[in-house]
Amino acid sequence: GDDSTVSITIVGASGDLAKKKIFPALFALYYEDCLPEHFTIFGYARSKMTDAELRDMVSRTLTCRIDKRENCGEKMEQFLKRCFYHSGNYDSEQNFTELDGKLKEHEAGRVSNRLFYLSIPPNIFVDAVKCASRSASSANGWTRVIVEKPFGRDSDSSAALTRSLKQYLEEEQIFRIDHYLGKELVENLSVLRFSNLIFEPLWSRKYIRNVQLIFSEDFGTEGRGGYFDHYGIIRDIMQNHLLQILALFAMETPVSLDAEDIRNEKVKVLRSMRPIHVDDVVVGQYKGHTRGGQSYPGYTDDKTVPEDSLTPTFAAAALFIDNARWDGVPFLMKAGKALHDRRAEIRVQFRHVPGNLYYRNSGTDPDRATNELVIRVQPDEAIYLKINNKVPGLGMRLDRSNLNLLYKARYAKEIPDAYERLVLDAIEGERRLFIRSDELDAAWSLFTPVLKEIGEKKVIPEYYPYGSRGPVGAHYLAARHNVKWGDVG
Ligand code: BG6
Repeated sequence: GDDSTVSITIVGASGDLAKKKIFPALFALYYEDCLPEHFTIFGYARSKMTDAELRDMVSRTLTCRIDKRENCGEKMEQFLKRCFYHSGNYDSEQNFTELDGKLKEHEAGRVSNRLFYLSIPPNIFVDAVKCASRSASSANGWTRVIVEKPFGRDSDSSAALTRSLKQYLEEEQIFRIDHYLGKELVENLSVLRFSNLIFEPLWSRKYIRNVQLIFSEDFGTEGRGGYFDHYGIIRDIMQNHLLQILALFAMETPVSLDAEDIRNEKVKVLRSMRPIHVDDVVVGQYKGHTRGGQSYPGYTDDKTVPEDSLTPTFAAAALFIDNARWDGVPFLMKAGKALHDRRAEIRVQFRHVPGNLYYRNSGTDPDRATNELVIRVQPDEAIYLKINNKVPGLGMRLDRSNLNLLYKARYAKEIPDAYERLVLDAIEGERRLFIRSDELDAAWSLFTPVLKEIGEKKVIPEYYPYGSRGPVGAHYLAARHNVKWGDVG
């Protein structure tokens, strides 16, 4: 057998993320036999709980893709036997020393590796890292810490956080999560792009007219208003999730698939981006209303949100990469809460075929007949390509049809949750999908000035009704760059 052991401590074990994502991910990994032979899971939080109560909480709140499988219950029993709880304060070295004692018992003299998953609010973050690293880090194996955003709210606060963390940890020990990088279709981006001859050579300004990164949710910030109001949609979604996708999409070919090679290219492309002009950003906020007897709350109806809050719950932005590959190509981002649907997708609109025989005398705008590649990250994962095709029949009429790779139809396998991929990678020391500190700096450098300007000028968001398609300003913004959003009509 394996002579080492991994202890996974979830700091903030009774929180939402732990219940909804981390425990279920660990269980799924266990179910799939992906966890090491010797492992122990510890929940750590302030509230008093026994091991039995933690186990009860984990099994009660567990909803994951494994749920309906046959031997799920039996596996769950086995899994719960490896879960324990330790109650302590986040800033108490003594409490972490007690945890250390318990971990040692479970490690039983084996080489001990320790993973801490910090699932706690930012204000107690550094204290917890300090205590965990001083009092409960591994003596003879590795110690790694997974941290979740927010990583500050602008360049300065993010740099300060990085400095504090680096007092206690080496950069290689810090695993900064952006869970979008763990999504199947985001991971697949580089396969699609770099291993298909029909895409790789087309991936530049020469053939691509614009790229759209779209995120929408059909629910508001209900219950999270307190957190959200301090950040807003640009920090919550764009500066991290959408920008990470953009970096993977647009980076130069890395030297290899090694984590450092990939992240070097991501940093390079982020640093090649043009500062964002405030005129190239549209912000919006949802308003409540009543429809068909049902009432939908506005953003500021949330008791934890100030009545006069200007925090955007929607934003659209045009970004540019000033390098040889992408000069002049608009990268449009759009992210919003309380919109009409939930989706995350990448849309690549290609240029038109020069002198297209079928369109040149038809009076049709040739841009209406361009190819579009859509990578639907969620829901209902898919990759499809819009092509021009002859409508069957005796006449000659063209339409646009889809070459469609629908994951559900093609693959019998379920798609793992992003957290499964990421937790497994952290256990295995694979850093490819985690954010390096220079990447984080570059991402903040890009967004900080425009965020400051929006804040200082007190830009009034354009209001949109809950459940709508968002502010019309997003269309004007796109039109100014000669773009039509692909997700609407
Ligand atoms: C989080 C944001 O990072 O991502 C949330 O803070 C958002 O506001 C969530 O709802 C979306 O993640 P997913 O995986 O549900 O699309």
